[in-house]
Amino acid sequence: MSTEAAQLDRAVDLIQSGGLVAFPTETVYGLGADATNPEAVQLVYETKQRPAANPLIVHVADIAMAQRVVLDWPDRAQKLAASFWPGPLSFILPKAPSLPGIVAAGGSTVAVRCPDHQLALSLIGTCNLPLVAPSANPSGGISPTTADHVRASFSENDVFVLDGGPCRAGIESTVIDLTQHAPRLLRLGIITPDAIARVLGEPVTDSSSNALSLSNQPLPSPGLLARHYAPKAPAQLFTNNDWPALLQRYAQQHLVVITHDATLTPPTHTATLSITIIRLPGEAMAYARELYTALREADAINPACIAIHKPEPVGEQAPIWSAILDRLTRATTPVEHTGS
Ligand code: TXA
Ligand code: MG
Repeated sequence: MSTEAAQLDRAVDLIQSGGLVAFPTETVYGLGADATNPEAVQLVYETKQRPAANPLIVHVADIAMAQRVVLDWPDRAQKLAASFWPGPLSFILPKAPSLPGIVAAGGSTVAVRCPDHQLALSLIGTCNLPLVAPSANPSGGISPTTADHVRASFSENDVFVLDGGPCRAGIESTVIDLTQHAPRLLRLGIITPDAIARVLGEPVTDSSSNALSLSNQPLPSPGLLARHYAPKAPAQLFTNNDWPALLQRYAQQHLVVITHDATLTPPTHTATLSITIIRLPGEAMAYARELYTALREADAINPACIAIHKPEPVGEQAPIWSAILDRLTRATTPVEHTGS
């Protein structure tokens, strides 16, 4: 048996016996468990230290498996699945009564998606079980896009990691709520609101930035907290205008700068400044793919500040830049806005 087949075998055994397996998807690595086993799902919450009010996404191998976890499968879901699955799009639908309540954090709806990754599909298909899989990071932290990122957070005794190499997309799936009168977008991702509206033939409401208003209104999605995807070091966004002031402010401290602007150059005039520049691609898809690795690298330096060059969501790639900016805004939101 090949090493990969042996790894998959072990993963299947673990899932079937209520254990945790981190597996690759096209977006980020997920912390997988049998969605039909409430104890296994509980273990996911405990291992991630995820707030009990934050529901999980159920990962399925195909439309037929999705239909097992939802109460009904509306026409909108059929159209979107036919166009975008397997792929980085999660639907919120009414939950099937047979699915354990803990998956949905006690709510009446469930998120479901079919990931576009052969290893993920083999795992789900071989188990013949829907799998919950939140991003495989401690709650609130940076999502993992390599197997090593997962291993850095969890012991191999607690979480077996299926290594499928680096994730292609690099940021989490688009989340769309199909339980309301009109479809509404809860989380931006690589699949854009326009692409969804085109397939549905109707407008899509964008509720993705609601959590950022820091208002006291109930969140449309409990996981979409103002602060998320966050490094441990203080982090902030900057524009070209802020650049001189930023250098002044951190003149005596270690500053890590993450930029996608190849023309941004470090200063030559301040001898005391200790600055590390991490360069990201100027193309949005490539930027998204490398972002979380860059944030982790920056954090590992333990600087006084991580300053991230703010991308402008303009041009042909504007929707992808918007999804990136959503993550950057949450990653740089101060700690006092951390949700429960
Ligand atoms: O790309 C992805 O979606 C990755 C990979 C592993 O598939 N998973 C992921 O899961 O990002 P997680 O748990 O880190 O994020 C799921 C998001 C959270 O913001 C959660 O609140 C929201 O989806 N969500 C889940 N179920 C929901 C529901 N029933 N209603 C509203 N929001 C829901
Ligand atoms: Mg997450």
